[in-house]
Amino acid sequence: MELVIQPNADRAACLVARLIAQAIREKPHIVLGLATGRTMERVYRCLVQMHKHRGLDFSLCRTFNLDEYIGLPADSPFSYRYYMNKHLFSQVNIDRRNTYLPDGVNADTDRACRQYEQQIHEFGGIDLQLLGIGAAGHIGFNEPLSALQSRTREKALTPTTIADNAPLCGGDPEKMPRRAITMGVGTILEAGRVILLATGTAKANVVAKAVEGPITSMISASALQLHRHCRVVVDEEAAANLQGKEYYRWIFDNEPEWTVYRTPDCVISGYPPCKT
Ligand code: F6R
Repeated sequence: MELVIQPNADRAACLVARLIAQAIREKPHIVLGLATGRTMERVYRCLVQMHKHRGLDFSLCRTFNLDEYIGLPADSPFSYRYYMNKHLFSQVNIDRRNTYLPDGVNADTDRACRQYEQQIHEFGGIDLQLLGIGAAGHIGFNEPLSALQSRTREKALTPTTIADNAPLCGGDPEKMPRRAITMGVGTILEAGRVILLATGTAKANVVAKAVEGPITSMISASALQLHRHCRVVVDEEAAANLQGKEYYRWIFDNEPEWTVYRTPDCVISGYPPCKT
């Protein structure tokens, strides 16, 4: 695992977008694993700007999202399909037929989950998986005690997740879906590369537990310690409780693989610019 600390949330998101853009340029047929949530909005803004102003080409990309609420149709403004269309797919040249999310309205949820795994498999697996992290340590909707070998399946959301995500679902926790389909921890661990982005003070505790604490199904993100190519990108606020900060900074400041990324390169326009 590598940990990169950036001065603020804009810079952290830009760095993640640049890593994704580089991966797309290296492999135009890339299979991307995507996430939703507030943290990712900045990343998608960067990617859209890179498409519009720097020719970043999504035409051959395939995408699989981590999760989808059960019971929300694609055109519900609270569904993750709607979120992805709004923040990314409608603004870049991706072929919508190559974008996949779990089918949250299939009456046979188990079948929908098996099919999702099969589709990922048919495309050769996920090359690069983007992740956020929930306040209780989930990746995807792998809530506490999710098996570290779990596959795509239905999960009940915790009260913490329901409260955290209610603002994205109109603000009323009563109207929040209670269940979701999520890729499993085992599914996520099979991705070729993983990038987790966490920003803000609210994530400081859980980031420290996931990165520096023991591997435990109580914090599903801690399973990423087992991954051979996992990068965690955080801003100063989310890094606040990390013990190894100085070492992580030293790696970023000295290792050749990071040379190009040490120079800020903000592409978000019409949005709070990257503060250098
Ligand atoms: C969403 C997802 C979740 C979020 C996490 C953080 O597809 O998989 O794990 O990444 O809940 O959400 P925000 O960024 O809203 O704090």
